Amino acid sequence: RVEQVVAWEALDSRARPTVACRVSLTDGSSARALVPSGASTGSYEAFELRDGDERYDGMGVRRAVEHVNTTLADAVRGLDTAEPDAVDRVLEELDGGHRFERLGGNAVLAVSVAASRAAAAAAGVPLACWLHGPGALPLPMPMVNIISGGAHAGRAIDVQDFLVIPVGAASFAQALEWCARVRDAARRLALAGGHAAAVLVADEGGLGVPLGGNGDALDLLTRAIDAAGLTPGTEVAVAIDVAANQLWTGAGYELAAEDRTLSAAELIDEIAGWVAHHAVVSVEDVLREDDWAGWAAATRRLAGVQVIGDDLFATDPSRLAEGVRRGAANAVLVKVNQNGTLRGARGVLQAAQRAGWATVVSARSGDTEDDWLADLAVGWNAGQIKVGSVHRSERCAKWNRLLELEATEDTVFSNPWREAPR
Ligand code: PGA
Ligand code: ZN
Repeated sequence: RVEQVVAWEALDSRARPTVACRVSLTDGSSARALVPSGASTGSYEAFELRDGDERYDGMGVRRAVEHVNTTLADAVRGLDTAEPDAVDRVLEELDGGHRFERLGGNAVLAVSVAASRAAAAAAGVPLACWLHGPGALPLPMPMVNIISGGAHAGRAIDVQDFLVIPVGAASFAQALEWCARVRDAARRLALAGGHAAAVLVADEGGLGVPLGGNGDALDLLTRAIDAAGLTPGTEVAVAIDVAANQLWTGAGYELAAEDRTLSAAELIDEIAGWVAHHAVVSVEDVLREDDWAGWAAATRRLAGVQVIGDDLFATDPSRLAEGVRRGAANAVLVKVNQNGTLRGARGVLQAAQRAGWATVVSARSGDTEDDWLADLAVGWNAGQIKVGSVHRSERCAKWNRLLELEATEDTVFSNPWREAPR
């Protein structure tokens, strides 16, 4: 049973305050959790409570911490963590509002994750096993950021993420090694092309190089896969996250680096061109979050491609249901802090899986050294995980946790791309 809950203010990878929390149980076990925070956030995400005072330029989370230490601690004390979801149900009821506007989604998530971890500790098993139950643990396919743009790289390029998916890898360890090899090849090629900024790292650890256009980034990525001794398409495929909310001006989608503003149909044409000319198998947030009809048309147009909704769904069950009903997207990005509780985020993931959709568990651009996301991806059988690049320790913490699980537990590398694409 929950005995004590203590929260404090910690820092995320952008030096912004975030909520950290420890949950202690009556049997003596305890666990800690730190929550992440996005930059290219959608409007429908759970509310992030910030102090808005002079500390940290208004980004302090002392009020959220205070909520954990008082209201939330009082509400969950005595609850039996061995009973799945007992804590999360109470947390969800407590707020009243459906996006945690009162208590703060950051306060709620810290307690939700720490309580689950404490339950796993009490049971003497890793969080991944506690969530998964008996049987071999399914390790996810990594989607790894190589070139960063948008809100994560001072708009070096318009598209936010150019990623690779090592679709031909036989194990998680091999998948990660291939991605690291491609990133290094891309860095060397960018340096050779005069982009000194390739030695720097963007918010998610990718190369924040001002390449000019999105097509140039795709060219560089394809050359890097080649230079790494891997075959584009069959061994290493390409994914992009357009993060189109960020391009939307109210009148169109602005590609600033190319000095062009596109309509929804023109942007989808542009993306279809990238898919046709490069080994792109997955696209994310191809349009803004409110254009349901545009999304449905884009999903039909991009048949055979994984079309992921991130800001579109904001890990919200009713938005996902709407997407499934309309055929808007065919995959969902699951970010637990968009939802607020593990139970809520898992519900969205499972609803997507029941609809036959692919699922990707994702970190945030402001993240921490905490590695619980890796255990969620495994325990929930997400199939895919997106954490950023293979640089910066808040990213590597998750990769290293997956390497640890592969080395120490009974696992199977679940590769959703083995039969599927191109
Ligand atoms: P965010 O970006 O964490 O800044 O929202 C991640 C993404 O868009 O996938
Ligand atoms: Zn995204």
